[in-house]
Amino acid sequence: MNDEMLARALAPIYGERSVGRGGQLARYSGALAAFSTRFGQGAVRLFRAPGRVNLIGEHTDYNHGYVMPMALDKDIALVARPRADAIVNLRNIDPERFPARTFVISAEIPRSPLGDWGNYVKGAAQALRQAAGRELCGADILASGQAPWGVPAAAGLSSSSALTVVAALTLAALNGIDLPKLALARLCSEAEWYVGTRGGIMDQFISILAERDRALLLDCRPRPGDLPGEVHYAMRQVPLPAGYRVLVLNSAVRREKTKSLYNVRVAECRIGVALLKRRYPGITHLRDVSAEALGLSDAHVLALLEDMLPEQTTRDDLRSAGLLDEPLGAMFADYGLSDDQVYRVRRRCRHVITENARVLASELALSAGDVLRFGRLMNDSHFSMSRDYEAGCREVDVLADLCRESAGVLGARVTGAGWGGCVVALVQDGCEVGVLEQVTRQYVAATGLPGEGFVCASAPGASEVRSENAEG
Ligand code: GLA
Repeated sequence: MNDEMLARALAPIYGERSVGRGGQLARYSGALAAFSTRFGQGAVRLFRAPGRVNLIGEHTDYNHGYVMPMALDKDIALVARPRADAIVNLRNIDPERFPARTFVISAEIPRSPLGDWGNYVKGAAQALRQAAGRELCGADILASGQAPWGVPAAAGLSSSSALTVVAALTLAALNGIDLPKLALARLCSEAEWYVGTRGGIMDQFISILAERDRALLLDCRPRPGDLPGEVHYAMRQVPLPAGYRVLVLNSAVRREKTKSLYNVRVAECRIGVALLKRRYPGITHLRDVSAEALGLSDAHVLALLEDMLPEQTTRDDLRSAGLLDEPLGAMFADYGLSDDQVYRVRRRCRHVITENARVLASELALSAGDVLRFGRLMNDSHFSMSRDYEAGCREVDVLADLCRESAGVLGARVTGAGWGGCVVALVQDGCEVGVLEQVTRQYVAATGLPGEGFVCASAPGASEVRSENAEG
């Protein structure tokens, strides 16, 4: 693809950010040149998948609840060429941070050590191979996800899901497998379990189903479709509020080290369900615990949690209570949980249940143009994440407080899994550059950590990058 064709292919995805200084054209041209240097000249195809910022709805997805993410124009792009064998040669434009990886696609691909970037591509390849039920061809691949165009790694902006999604999309396309978007999103969500975290569906769904200038209100409960095996999800594209901008500020606290806490939280929610089921057998996920679903007032739902759920419990307590049969028993083995782990069930459930209500209230507030209320819900979500879900950290609290204290900010909260990462803030149009500059400066002074952030530009979901004549 020459520059003119490439610019034409990039324009519908990145708009005015395609060309010019620091534009995407420079990034893609660089990636194409790097690919040719490593793998030789010849036809290639280009694919991309965006990272996301979640506006509200944290740790609700694996509880069949509600989320409201939007895709960023920061993404992972792959240059790829199919191979005649099943080998995947994976290279990165930044080989020092992301060293070369090579593996063979099979239905059981051996994992690299925890945290290795190649695992996301392996997970995608294995899931696709299992779904296809036949041999797949491999590929020579060069990944480009460097700043300023890439999704910052380990910052809670879903760089790993973007990599999983773009790898699955690429390998599916090179193998002539035509997966509808929803099927691809589901495949990618499960593919990521390969790396050891029992994540939900939010990140992969938004990376695939996003529309420009829209957030996605996604109901994460799968519902049977008309055909056998068919599954649907209720979702609605929500316009971003006019006159406001979304800012992302990075605390520079990386959450890699605390990934195992994620599985503990998933377990705490499932323990909560097992206990609540004793009174309400119809509850299968925390999503089912709401004032509306149980025909109770909000206050009664909170009283129910006080009554039915212990402040904390252990595996031994659960065993004594006869709760270690399937499926909880299998969970302890699968999730890699230590024997002496303490589970703070009541407060975890309180976060999820109130967070689901906040997402629904956010949708109402946004459709009524009540941006002030949405801002307050974002703040409440942050406090619930720190106090009840204990997924906060001091630096992120400092950053969110600094945002809230700045003129023009309506609300700010930690986004993504937590334990570090980024804060998302809703800011009045025109104030965004000032807020960014002031908050990052104050954050550096308060913590000694680097201060950085950006004004979000939204992007459409994952796609092949091509112009009419792009292939070849
Ligand atoms: C991570 C997971 C998501 C979701 C969020 C928390 O990003 O991948 O599935 O659970 O954490 O909301």
